[in-house]
Amino acid sequence: MTGLVIVGAGGFARETAQAVLDAGESKLLGHLDDNPALHGTEVDGVPVLGGCDLVHHLPDARVVICVGNPRDYAARVRLVRRLGLPTDRYATVVHPTAVVSSTSWIGPGSVLLAHCALTAAVRLGAHVAVMPHVVLTHDDVVEDYATLTSGVRLGGGVRVKRGAYVGSGALLREGTTVGAWSQIGMGSNVLGDIPPGEVWVGSPARPLRAADAPALAELANEQWGDR
Ligand SMILES: CC(C)(COP(=O)(O)OP(=O)(O)OC[C@H]1O[C@@H](n2cnc3c(N)ncnc32)[C@H](O)[C@@H]1OP(=O)(O)O)[C@@H](O)C(=O)NCCC(=O)NCCS
Repeated sequence: MTGLVIVGAGGFARETAQAVLDAGESKLLGHLDDNPALHGTEVDGVPVLGGCDLVHHLPDARVVICVGNPRDYAARVRLVRRLGLPTDRYATVVHPTAVVSSTSWIGPGSVLLAHCALTAAVRLGAHVAVMPHVVLTHDDVVEDYATLTSGVRLGGGVRVKRGAYVGSGALLREGTTVGAWSQIGMGSNVLGDIPPGEVWVGSPARPLRAADAPALAELANEQWGDR
């Protein structure tokens, strides 16, 4: 049983902690969070050991980075870059109720929460967050740092590009693409391709605004175009 630390102590990190405890495959050492007020406390009974840079003093621990929210969904990529850990330090966390087909593949640092399903030949990149009850169907590709929030359903052959964020309950028509770092509003129906770097909402989904979150602008080397 390997030791695991969860970077972050907010909602997604706490949900991941519960998934780790339910899976029982890793020894959960605790959370790391840059909020000093949390250091030495517990969240949901799990200790907050210190700041994120403590990963460098725990060389035997494996790591998942569980930060980000609808207003700052680039937080994971920033932390991955800042920490600069080798890929083999990253664990994948899969809740025991998730159904992952043998033909599907999950990248390092990705987290799958309860009751999600990967039906056939689904590919998830690194540091992808998949919230409860997400359904990914045949041949879907979800690139690094993407976030699929609870209840999202992807038709077959959908591509969610790098860093994109798909809001709760959104439905994506088969064969469509969500561009890099774009955001789909909760409850939206996506019927065609979404360009990179835009926020789309509604049914059918229409453009709302540019994905201009300050956090995205901080991505010095990130391009919103195809990668
Ligand atoms: C899409 C989103 C990011 C837009 O946020 P925002 O830029 O703050 O937008 P606002 O709330 O100011 O709304 C702007 C307009 O878009 C509409 N709108 C916002 N979200 C919408 C949605 N999901 N579906 C349809 N319309 C939406 C609003 O009604 C408003 O319309 P109006 O100008 O005609 O009044 C946000 O609403 C959203 O859906 N976030 C994802 C939430 C989520 O899935 N959370 C789960 C994990 S915590």
